[in-house]
Amino acid sequence: MKSDPADIPTHIAIVMDGNGRWAENRKRPRTFGHQAGLKALRKIVEHCGRLGVRELTVFAFSSENWKRPKKEVNRLMELFMRALDKEARELNENNVRIRFIGKLTGFSPDLQKKVLQATDLTKDNDRMTLNVAANYGGRWDIANATRKIVEAAISGAVKPEQVNEELFSEYLELSESGDPDLFIRTGGEMRISNFLLWQSAYTEFYFTPDLWPDFGPESLDKAIAAYGQRERRFGKTGEQIRKKTA
Ligand code: IPE
Ligand code: IPE
Ligand code: MG
Repeated sequence: MKSDPADIPTHIAIVMDGNGRWAENRKRPRTFGHQAGLKALRKIVEHCGRLGVRELTVFAFSSENWKRPKKEVNRLMELFMRALDKEARELNENNVRIRFIGKLTGFSPDLQKKVLQATDLTKDNDRMTLNVAANYGGRWDIANATRKIVEAAISGAVKPEQVNEELFSEYLELSESGDPDLFIRTGGEMRISNFLLWQSAYTEFYFTPDLWPDFGPESLDKAIAAYGQRERRFGKTGEQIRKKTA
């Protein structure tokens, strides 16, 4: 199936959920599911590149995921540590820029170093951007932006009357990106789980019961085809939208 290029979302956000259940279904430890999840991500990044998606933002670790058993958290950190260098090299070869959003100071100094190295290595790549949300929470993002704006107001750099939606967005993570056009959540849950709360105000949502390690290029094609059927009105009437595109 081939989509019209006009229907290819510029920016896709994905909650990569279901790794644990995928592993449990196979009587394997949850970490095995996270490893399979990383493989699935590689394929999706490649496929996005082929389709001409400009930006992909994936939820890798939420600010709430620290509440998981210590063993699972440790294993996840080990996986990030092991994977980062190799993945960054491959992304770099494919002209993909990687960026991280979230409270990175929550991670070990070694991991923070790898994150900075990967960001720096790929910073000039322009085929596509992969944003990895790690220790990210939508509420944290909004509270963090508010703190920075208050600091700017105290120092006199921002006046209270200048604070509007546009200025606020400049202080959020992903300030240089457009809002996501399509938000995909695998794993069957129909919730945002504190992902891009501000940025997804007008994003199209797509939920699938497929577990993340099973979500392949054809699954993405299906999600994009569903997106292509949506009429994005942004508050206008359907008639206004159809007139403009006719
Ligand atoms: C998502 O898969 C990955 C992370 C949160 C790190 P889960 O680990 O939440 O998998 P399920 O939802 O338990 O199946
Ligand atoms: C959301 O999945 C976070 C990631 C995919 C990284 P969770 O599995 O943590 O979400 P809940 O707990 O089911 O809402
Ligand atoms: Mg989950």
